[in-house]
Parts: sequence; structure tokens; C-alpha cells
Amino acid sequence: MNFDLQGRVAVVTGGASGIGLAVSRAAADQDMAVAVLDNNAQAVEAATAELQDRGFKCLGLVVDVTESESVARAVADVEASLGSIDALVACAGISQNTPVVDMSDEEWDRLVAVNQRGVFTVAREIGRRMVARGSGAMVVIGSTDTIGGHINHAAYAATKHAVAGFVQSAAIEWGRAGVRINVVAPGAVDTPLLRTKFDDETAQRVLLYNVPMGRLSRPAEQANASLFLLSDAASYVTGTTLCVDGGLTTGFFYNDQVH
Ligand SMILES: NC(=O)c1ccc[n+]([C@@H]2O[C@H](COP(=O)([O-])OP(=O)(O)OC[C@H]3O[C@@H](n4cnc5c(N)ncnc54)[C@H](O)[C@@H]3O)[C@@H](O)[C@H]2O)c1
Repeated sequence: MNFDLQGRVAVVTGGASGIGLAVSRAAADQDMAVAVLDNNAQAVEAATAELQDRGFKCLGLVVDVTESESVARAVADVEASLGSIDALVACAGISQNTPVVDMSDEEWDRLVAVNQRGVFTVAREIGRRMVARGSGAMVVIGSTDTIGGHINHAAYAATKHAVAGFVQSAAIEWGRAGVRINVVAPGAVDTPLLRTKFDDETAQRVLLYNVPMGRLSRPAEQANASLFLLSDAASYVTGTTLCVDGGLTTGFFYNDQVH
């Protein structure tokens, strides 16, 4: 079995925080060259400095994934500086906490722009190059909201369902060109994004009632799943969604305290 990713070039969007940062670190630990693309300049600087200080090959670029032109420039810069891109993990994303009846057009459009179009812009730009070269692998970070609904997260869930349709379609288009693309669907992961809406007490209630494994995911556990899908160990896996959710999407009623 070949998990070896050494010497390959990875792009990680949203790579400066949370799951993306864990992917950047894990890819560097596998001796991949890593390009961290994120719109948070301070976080990009910190992530890049950390990886470079540890002796890894890393390029940090401040990029807004909603802007096609800045994405195209960044992808060209990565190839000029690190070489041909072998792998993409698209982690950049935002969330919300608004009931449908209170949601504005602007909030809906922002969610779609970042979580949906922001996956398309990057996958298209890198996909063109991978298809032309005849190899490459991509992972898009979805969510358990790729599988089902979520109270006060209708726009978020709509975008996360949408990326699965995008990934399935791109997998069909790119399969014969040797380019694979899959979704990793995390459950509740302990990141800055989760912490914007979960205090410890809320987290405990969610875990008690919904997560068979009874704990939050560590970001590194999401990174492990992404690296597996990028590696040749997953050479016949494309167009699928891998839930990394501690069992969250396995059933309906999770705890005998609710019966
Ligand atoms: N944390 C969870 O529980 C959880 C669960 C399921 C799915 N996810 C998904 O995982 C991904 C990462 O989330 P996280 O929890 O690590 O969040 P995070 O906020 O820690 O990291 C997200 C990163 O994306 C960047 N980003 C946001 N908008 C961007 C844009 N327009 N252009 C470029 N970069 C942008 C942010 O600056 C940030 O560094 C998201 O797609 C999220 O939907 C997270």
C-alpha cells in the first residue's frame, strides 16, 4: 500500500487555520511542498513562518477564493515557485447561525460565494493543469451538512450539499484524465470556526445527544482522511464522500436519555 506523498506539491485553501492548518502541517510532515492560500494575512504569515522554521518547503499567499483572478495568479505563483501542483485540499469556508426567515439575501450570497464558488474557482484553475498533465488528486472539505440538514444553517447546508454535486460531476469529467476528486465530510471539529458558536456547555450537549464517539474531532483527524484520499492508497477512489464524523450521520436517535 502506498501512502507516500513525499516531494509532491499541495495547495491548501483556508490553510492557515483550523482543519486547513492541520492539513498544511500534515502535508509538510509527509515532506510535501505546501502552498497555504488564505484571506487572513496574519494567519498566513504565522502558518508559513511555522512551517518554514521547521525546515519545510512552504509558500504563503493571501488569496480570496471568491475572486477568480486572484486565484489564477496564486496558482501560477505556486507552480512557478514550488512546481506542478499534485494535490489540492479546499478547506476555505465560512458558517452562519441564522434561521431561514431571518436570513438576508446578502448573507445567503456570501455563503454561496465562499463555500460554493470558492471551491469551483480553485478546482477549475488547478483542474485545468492536472487534466492537461494527466494526474492529480483533490479533496473538498464538505460537512455532515453535505449529508443532511442543520437548524439555523440552511445556507451553509445548501452550499455543502452543492459541493458534493460539483465533486461528483468533476470526478466524472476528469476520471479518464487520471484526476481524482473527493469530499471529506467532517462532523464537529474543534477549530476557531466551531468555537464561534459552541461554548463548552453547548458542545457537551451536542456530543451527548448526537455523536456516538462522544467527543469532538481533532483537526488532525480530518487531515489524516484528506491525505489518505490524496495518496495512491486511494488510487481507485473518486467522486465519493468520506464522513469523518465520529458516527454523527449513522442514525437518528443516539442516546437512550431521549426515549
Ligand atoms: N469546524 C467544524 O466543526 C467543521 C465541521 C464541518 C465542516 N467544516 C468545514 O471545514 C472547513 C474549515 O473550517 P474550520 O473549522 O477549519 O474553520 P476556520 O475558520 O478555522 O478556518 C477557515 C479558514 O478559511 C479561511 N477563509 C474564509 N473565507 C475565505 C476566503 N474567501 N478566501 C480564502 N480563505 C478564506 C479563513 O481565513 C480561515 O483561515 C470549512 O469549509 C468548514 O465549513 C468545519
